[in-house]
Amino acid sequence: MRRGLSGDPRSIAMHPSFVSRPTGCEEGRFLALDLGGTNVRATLVELRGQRSLRVLEHQSFRLASTTGTVHDLFDPVAEFVVDLLADDGSQNIGFIFAFPMDQTGVRSGRLTKWTKEFAFDCVEEEDVVALLEQAIGARTGNLGGFGISALANDTVGVLAAGAYLDPRCDMGLIVGTGANLAVAVPDKMIGRRDLPGPLGNPDEMIFNMECGNFDGVDAIQTDADRRLDAESDTIGQRMEKMIAGRYLGEVVRLRVCEIAARGEGFDDWLTGGRGFNAPYTFTTEDLSDAAFDESEELIATAMQLGRLGVSDTTVGDRRLLREICISVARRSARIVAAGIAATATYLDPDLDDEHIVAADGSVFRGMPGYQAELRRGLQDILGERADRVQVCYLRDGSGLGAAVVAAVAAEV
Ligand code: GLC
Repeated sequence: MRRGLSGDPRSIAMHPSFVSRPTGCEEGRFLALDLGGTNVRATLVELRGQRSLRVLEHQSFRLASTTGTVHDLFDPVAEFVVDLLADDGSQNIGFIFAFPMDQTGVRSGRLTKWTKEFAFDCVEEEDVVALLEQAIGARTGNLGGFGISALANDTVGVLAAGAYLDPRCDMGLIVGTGANLAVAVPDKMIGRRDLPGPLGNPDEMIFNMECGNFDGVDAIQTDADRRLDAESDTIGQRMEKMIAGRYLGEVVRLRVCEIAARGEGFDDWLTGGRGFNAPYTFTTEDLSDAAFDESEELIATAMQLGRLGVSDTTVGDRRLLREICISVARRSARIVAAGIAATATYLDPDLDDEHIVAADGSVFRGMPGYQAELRRGLQDILGERADRVQVCYLRDGSGLGAAVVAAVAAEV
């Protein structure tokens, strides 16, 4: 983190957001656009000042694919936005783009590389605000008075939304399709002197850590992790591949393949065109279902496996599958706990202050037992100081945050 903040390129990039946390007094109506997974979401948010806000409307649509041309990505998004704007007339758009970006200000940022197995051509190295504005402009003749007033990563968004609601919030966490943290850093800890002051409070800036790319996990990677990485289209992101929903099911599948290849279980799971052969057929939802199957002799898992093309499984194999699923889910929560503990103690070594981590994402929200395991992880690492760090779920946090960041940028 220190090197990232000094501008010395490391696996944890520490991308500046050019905004500070909000005061909680910002007011106004904003349209938040959240693009970071296959589900593209738009939320009309009213900030009411005094640390309260209201969601007026929420809509989403699914991208047909995560690969294609630049138009396959931005044209449907632009169409979606134009329809919403026409209905509402709101002109302040906060744009969450949940990928690593080199921002030069709060209104522009170049995608440094695709992550989460996304691959649309001609977007890397381009300014994503310009691409979106062009696509909107093509639909409205000119921009029709609409423009993007702020751009931010989703972790920056969830942090900003958390801080709007509670000033103790200084970290943002996403564990969904991808995994990442953002942190509000006091000015005196920022080694880079080439950055202009942030909008909002000049004494701090929010940074997108991009810690999914942390390469310090080498020592704890298993063969399955290494194989997943070697076969992935997304370069790097080794820590994310051990944490995030895009990958956890596949880690389990690769482990099953290893055990089957050694003849130590899962006989016939891979033969005769059955389900476990193809990459990513076992999803993170399947992992969740198997890990928390309460049925007698894991019959629910047997049925689920039948749906995936693997029938006639033994109870023993199903138990082994469940054990693998539980340990892969637990490991994800424990690595996230380590990331949070490291970040909190970097900011505040003795944890003299309270820290709130605002969290969002499908794995954090939806995987049974995940939040409790994360808490146990924090307790193991921080001991009795663990209660100084609270990790709190904030529904649609990144979308709400887009509105908050747009308000900080507009200084309203
Ligand atoms: C990936 C992206 C990162 C994002 C995270 C959560 O790690 O690179 O920018 O914050 O997913 O969506």
